[in-house]
Amino acid sequence: MICLGIESTAHTFGVGIVTSEGKILANAKKVFTTETGGMILREVAKHHEKICDSVVSEAMEKANVNWDKIDLIAYSRGPGLAPALKVGKDLAKKLSSEHNKPIIGVNHCVAHLTIGQLCTGAKDPVFLYVSGVNTQVIAIAGGKFRIFGETLDIGIGNALDKFGREAGLGFPAGPKIEELAEKGKYIEMPYVVKGMDTSFAGLVTKATQLLKKGEKIEDVCCAFQETAFAMVTEVSERALAHCEKKELLLIGGVAANKKLCSMLDKMCKQRNAKFFAVPLEYAGDQGAMIAWQGILEQGKSKEIEIDIYPYERTDTIEVVWD
Ligand code: ATP
Ligand code: FE2
Repeated sequence: MICLGIESTAHTFGVGIVTSEGKILANAKKVFTTETGGMILREVAKHHEKICDSVVSEAMEKANVNWDKIDLIAYSRGPGLAPALKVGKDLAKKLSSEHNKPIIGVNHCVAHLTIGQLCTGAKDPVFLYVSGVNTQVIAIAGGKFRIFGETLDIGIGNALDKFGREAGLGFPAGPKIEELAEKGKYIEMPYVVKGMDTSFAGLVTKATQLLKKGEKIEDVCCAFQETAFAMVTEVSERALAHCEKKELLLIGGVAANKKLCSMLDKMCKQRNAKFFAVPLEYAGDQGAMIAWQGILEQGKSKEIEIDIYPYERTDTIEVVWD
């Protein structure tokens, strides 16, 4: 079986084509960008509307398939920005009726998790999901995804970007902060772990204050990373212990950070667990993950109306696949 997956929850409009054996045949995308990284909802939707057909064609050309070969259309139904989600859903419906193909809506966050498993071979991991918006520690227990801990305010990526904006580092700031941090030294910063939850807003405020006071940007970046990453390493370790799992899988855009990977790898080695990080191409938003999730769920998950679900949470999704 071959599935064509459509991603359009936020900035990225992506189309991926994946086989039921897990072979990724194509993963085309176009990203709406502004200089400051801001987002004007109507413009994002307009951007997606304008380029969606060309991204579908690009993916089909790359995969070298025509509509006869496609068995299923999947789209991300949520969570995300309603106007952007609507573009993906409408396109999926249009293609489904034009080419007479079944259609399935899937959860975007769950798709991030399962593409991570597909790419790394991790079987039953604790997931550390660190993107712009999300910072969550997740594992499957009792047939459902359970969120063991999450940020109480902003996600790590947004925290890095917010500080980066204050420091004039451009957007996205994560890679720039990583580079600067390599040359810096540690300064004490607010470390906030409450039970299994984390908080990063205070870190942004403190880092901005330190910079204004004249601390070196390299040192502030180093301390910011050390503190934020130690917080998520701590809660990941506790989740591994609590769930008695032996694998940790890092997913989301912040997985690109080598320092974070090395801290998590070290923690895993100390407790005889295996550390996996999603490959960069599949870390951010893209269509291949939606296609793969469609394959996993087709014919198994409860059918729900073909619509958008902008607030759908990961822990409401039943794990109906192996
Ligand atoms: P989601 O909808 O899944 O939350 P998102 O658009 O919020 O996705 P991603 O695309 O997964 O986020 O990741 C983008 C984030 O990753 C940005 O905040 C960016 O600063 C951060 N990032 C990218 N590279 C690095 C890096 N090397 N180090 C740290 N952070 C990074
Ligand atoms: Fe995402």
